[in-house]
Amino acid sequence: MQINDKSNYQKYHPNNKRYEEMTYNRSGKSGVLLPSISLGLWHNFGKYDLQANAEAILRTAFDNGITHFDLANNYGPPFGSAEANFGMLYKQNFEAYRDELFIATKAGYDMWEGPYGNFGSRKYLISSLDQSLKRMNLDYVDVFYHHRPDPDTPLEETAIALHDIVRQGKALYVGISNYEAEGIVEMSTLLRELKVPFIIEQAKYSMFDRSIEKTILPTIIKQNLGCIAFSPLAQGMLTNKYIDGIPTDSRAAKGKTYLEVNEVEEKLPIIKALNAIAQNRGQKLHQMAISWLLHQKGITSVLVGASSSSQLIDNLSATKNTEFSSEELTQINKLTSKFL
Ligand SMILES: NC(=O)c1ccc[n+]([C@@H]2O[C@H](COP(=O)([O-])OP(=O)(O)OC[C@H]3O[C@@H](n4cnc5c(N)ncnc54)[C@H](OP(=O)(O)O)[C@@H]3O)[C@@H](O)[C@H]2O)c1
Repeated sequence: MQINDKSNYQKYHPNNKRYEEMTYNRSGKSGVLLPSISLGLWHNFGKYDLQANAEAILRTAFDNGITHFDLANNYGPPFGSAEANFGMLYKQNFEAYRDELFIATKAGYDMWEGPYGNFGSRKYLISSLDQSLKRMNLDYVDVFYHHRPDPDTPLEETAIALHDIVRQGKALYVGISNYEAEGIVEMSTLLRELKVPFIIEQAKYSMFDRSIEKTILPTIIKQNLGCIAFSPLAQGMLTNKYIDGIPTDSRAAKGKTYLEVNEVEEKLPIIKALNAIAQNRGQKLHQMAISWLLHQKGITSVLVGASSSSQLIDNLSATKNTEFSSEELTQINKLTSKFL
């Protein structure tokens, strides 16, 4: 990460009015309230990103009532660097506000070489969280997620590891991510028996990926869990940025690992039609995309990524307009029901 010029460095004093505008929703039937918009650190916080920009995004988030920061062991690139940079910025800015923050990390994807750095074994989850805590300069995380289901490790082993992590005081709550409905029910049953505070599923959900509406979201609700929706803007496609071409500093232009130019071009007619609906509502497309998610039953928080503070501020106003007329919902449905 490129380090700030210390001569101009301004010490952080959070906004005194930070809790005035944000709304907080209960995660399922737990005691935890999460902001309607949370900040994800998957992109823009790695080794090659600008520290000043990353710091400004985090400060903007907290100044506006975003108390929930979402990380994972492998965010970067390279793996671990988003946690390490967050740890440094946390020390510089937020250490005095630890009890006002709800910090998440995860393990489940490829992290280190050899047989113990991936999936869902007890060996991997416990050692990965130990590494994450060191990188982030934290004694505990608020929520630790199993990042994806493991087809080979018995679910009971993963559940017992999550139980032990909580009992050791390394995480206050646990969650799972990318699980199908059946896995959610099984994990919920196991964790309930073990009396583990399991509060949330993190699932991919946007107007361009509505698959969780079929069985996953109803299951989450039935299991009394919260749901936090990731990639709500379909990695930037549900914004105005691609309407007039592919900007050079966009995710699509940066390479096809995350978002392919072809995919953007294919969806352009729908993006334009959705944009027209947003304009009629007095919103920008990305604001409507977030408002639409917040309107869905069962959504606790929308987990956005942002490459600048101004993007984040722009997204925040989505919380002010989450009502939709039945005509608007019908129009949106017509355009996006193929992504169900
Ligand atoms: N559990 C999982 O498996 C999983 C998987 C993926 C993500 N996540 C979590 O979810 C978070 C969000 O995912 P995501 O980054 O894919 O989310 P996203 O919100 O769909 O996309 C974020 C990108 O959209 C663009 N954007 C955001 N606000 C904008 C605005 N106001 N105007 C124009 N463009 C805007 C930016 O792209 P540019 O960079 O092009 O400016 C930004 O980097 C991640 O950081 C991570 O914490 C979890």
